[in-house]
Amino acid sequence: MAEKLIVVVGVTGQQGGSVARVFLDEPGWRVRGITRNPEKHPHLMQQGIELVQADLDDPASLDKAFTGANAIFAITDFWEVKQFLKDPKIFESAEKLGKKPNETAMELEIVHGKNMIHAASHQLATLDRFVLSTLSDTAKWSKGEFKWNLHFDGKAHFEQHLKQHYPELAKRSSYLQMGSYLSNRVSEHVGPKRQEDGSFVIRRLGIANGKPIPYVNPPNDTGHFVRALVLSPKAPPGSSMLGFCGLMTNEEFCALWGKVHGVQCRFQPLGYEDAVKVGMQEWMAEEVSQSGLYTTKYGWHGGDPEMKHPEELGVEVGKLTSVEGWIRGEDWGDVM
Ligand SMILES: NC(=O)c1ccc[n+]([C@@H]2O[C@H](COP(=O)([O-])OP(=O)(O)OC[C@H]3O[C@@H](n4cnc5c(N)ncnc54)[C@H](OP(=O)(O)O)[C@@H]3O)[C@@H](O)[C@H]2O)c1
Repeated sequence: MAEKLIVVVGVTGQQGGSVARVFLDEPGWRVRGITRNPEKHPHLMQQGIELVQADLDDPASLDKAFTGANAIFAITDFWEVKQFLKDPKIFESAEKLGKKPNETAMELEIVHGKNMIHAASHQLATLDRFVLSTLSDTAKWSKGEFKWNLHFDGKAHFEQHLKQHYPELAKRSSYLQMGSYLSNRVSEHVGPKRQEDGSFVIRRLGIANGKPIPYVNPPNDTGHFVRALVLSPKAPPGSSMLGFCGLMTNEEFCALWGKVHGVQCRFQPLGYEDAVKVGMQEWMAEEVSQSGLYTTKYGWHGGDPEMKHPEELGVEVGKLTSVEGWIRGEDWGDVM
């Protein structure tokens, strides 16, 4: 029997890399990955991935890269905006239009999402499953309370675009909302900080005693979720999965971190003003503080009843990361 083909967008990144590794081990499948710069990633070719040059800005390159796909894992990168920071001209042009950098990033992410959807719609002769990495619609689920969580809302926008304008593709599509990356916890603004009394504080944007956060370790876990969405009869097209390896409140995460290190550790909510004080640019502080407030007040998926945990779908999701194991495995030397 001929091998099936999965095309992985973002194969050089955390989510796509994981999807590629899981499908390389899946009998009967071959993996094609797309990147803007194949020459920079010879190790991926050595692992058996067919690397193809394509750019989410360039629809023709996507048509070529998706040709013959039986499954596609589709992801966009809102945080390419960090690359923009290296090019002040892009900020200047956004400013001239009276836009904030995150608005420009969302617009670009929406174009990328729509380009992938359009290119995938040309592959209906072979395509069985289009798995879209997406996030929830903040404005909708918070009933307009939060308007600046744009790294969620752009993804929700092109998911809707797919459902409304590409009914044949939608019949073969499933949706993955990845939870909060465990690695977010070690960034400079929100990592654990030792206090004078020897205890620790982890500061985090969001409210105290909020909704549980779905934590995930994308380089390990993503492929297992996508495998279930592509292969499991229990996750038919149209399924929406929340991808996580541990579900706990900020307070529970801090207590677990403290237990692992034999110290007291408590959660301290950060707000927009605090984020600006610790040196974040205002647009970024607004983006991430609204994200923290939305996800702790309404939940990561905003309470969307269509979103299912893997166990609610009844699918096997392979060996996911343990949050405690992840904490034990990280190097916290500089913090301790
Ligand atoms: N941080 C979190 O807690 C969290 C949670 C859920 C979802 N997310 C979302 O996850 C996404 C990032 O995924 P990730 O962590 O896997 O990213 P990553 O590790 O930073 O990798 C980004 C990938 O996107 C590819 N890419 C970017 N722009 C491209 C373009 N124009 N054309 C083709 N490929 C392009 C890159 O490919 P090349 O550079 O090789 O071309 C790379 O493979 C973001 O949109 C973020 O909002 C984050």
